[in-house]
Amino acid sequence: MRIVEVPIIGSAYAIDIGRRLGERLTARIVELPDVKQLVVITDDHVAKLHLERLPPFKPLRTCVLRVPPGESSKTLATISGLYDKLADARIERRDLILTFGGGVIGDLGGFVAATWLRGIRFVQVPTTLEAAVDASVGGKTGVNHPAGKNLIGAFHQPSAVIIATELLETLPQRDFAAGLAESVKHAAIRDPAFLDWHEQNVAAIERRDPNTIIELIARNCAIKADVVARDEHEQGLRAILNYGHTIGHAVEHLLDYELRHGECVALGIIAENELARARGLLDRSVADRIRSLLARFGLPTRLPRPLPAEQVIEVTRLDKKVTAGAVNFVLLPELGRPERVADVSDAEIAAALEAIQPK
Ligand SMILES: NC(=O)c1ccc[n+]([C@@H]2O[C@H](COP(=O)([O-])OP(=O)(O)OC[C@H]3O[C@@H](n4cnc5c(N)ncnc54)[C@H](O)[C@@H]3O)[C@@H](O)[C@H]2O)c1
Ligand SMILES: [Zn+2]
Repeated sequence: MRIVEVPIIGSAYAIDIGRRLGERLTARIVELPDVKQLVVITDDHVAKLHLERLPPFKPLRTCVLRVPPGESSKTLATISGLYDKLADARIERRDLILTFGGGVIGDLGGFVAATWLRGIRFVQVPTTLEAAVDASVGGKTGVNHPAGKNLIGAFHQPSAVIIATELLETLPQRDFAAGLAESVKHAAIRDPAFLDWHEQNVAAIERRDPNTIIELIARNCAIKADVVARDEHEQGLRAILNYGHTIGHAVEHLLDYELRHGECVALGIIAENELARARGLLDRSVADRIRSLLARFGLPTRLPRPLPAEQVIEVTRLDKKVTAGAVNFVLLPELGRPERVADVSDAEIAAALEAIQPK
């Protein structure tokens, strides 16, 4: 078992990573004072696979709210339906929400917790690798708007995060690989030795060896926890976590969420590395190394269908990463040393996209 502390001032919490969810989850919930009711928010798919693994939580009253699986549930309409259920169950300020699912459920349930009665506590139990290595750390919660991804949201830190490797065993290969894209992102921007570690452990990672996965998740959580503890509200440093995400989010939106978030991040990393390379900032050998690691994990290195550059450019302008009209990019001149730039031209974006257009 590994514990990673997230030392955010005023809302510090621990991420507990290991096997056997039940006992650890009960212990974490019992230590929270004054909880009477527990609301589990999950999706139909996760409920079918894993709901029975949740401990009984006696003597707490527990209700389970389910939403349809997938990104299409991350909307204000779903949130509104959940509020209705919280009202029916008379959920009070001291009660607790437990998010049990992937990044969609964490973002959605976290936003409900952030806003119901102006904020109640929540505990996250991530069930995807994406959520374990990234989405469950750092307190960003929210939903999508038709104009773009994650445009509505709040910062709200969980009281605890409990990660259990047995939950990840049922993840389809594509979803597992999608989580690895964020892991490669963390390693590339913050910990070059961890990038070596990925390359040396491809086989153990792919077979989901529990100790290797615990190590992988713990190192990711530690990297992200360190960044968000220094800059919880993304005034500066935290923005480096958007490496691969300016183009990644635009692609995700334009493909109408046909690809997994992590798959789009892999494509975004490749295109943004190409942009840095074309500027003479990044060595071709490093860009090739990252691309080939993503490919070894079974991640896409090209779009499933061509996307016109003008559309991608237009969507990047709607992204949250825009200040004073300029789209912010995180480029990687050197492993472990990302840089934020705001002077990328449309022509540069169009040229970089060529690296991921279908052959
Ligand atoms: N808040 C943040 O900081 C942050 C960071 C990264 C990503 N995100 C968000 O996370 C979302 C992507 O996360 P995701 O990929 O986990 O999406 P997801 O929650 O939609 O999960 C993907 C699919 O896997 C299924 N699933 C979940 N657990 C499973 C399991 N154990 N076995 C089998 N299937 C399982 C789900 O039902 C779903 O169909 C995006 O909306 C993204 O914006 C948020
Ligand atoms: Zn991401």
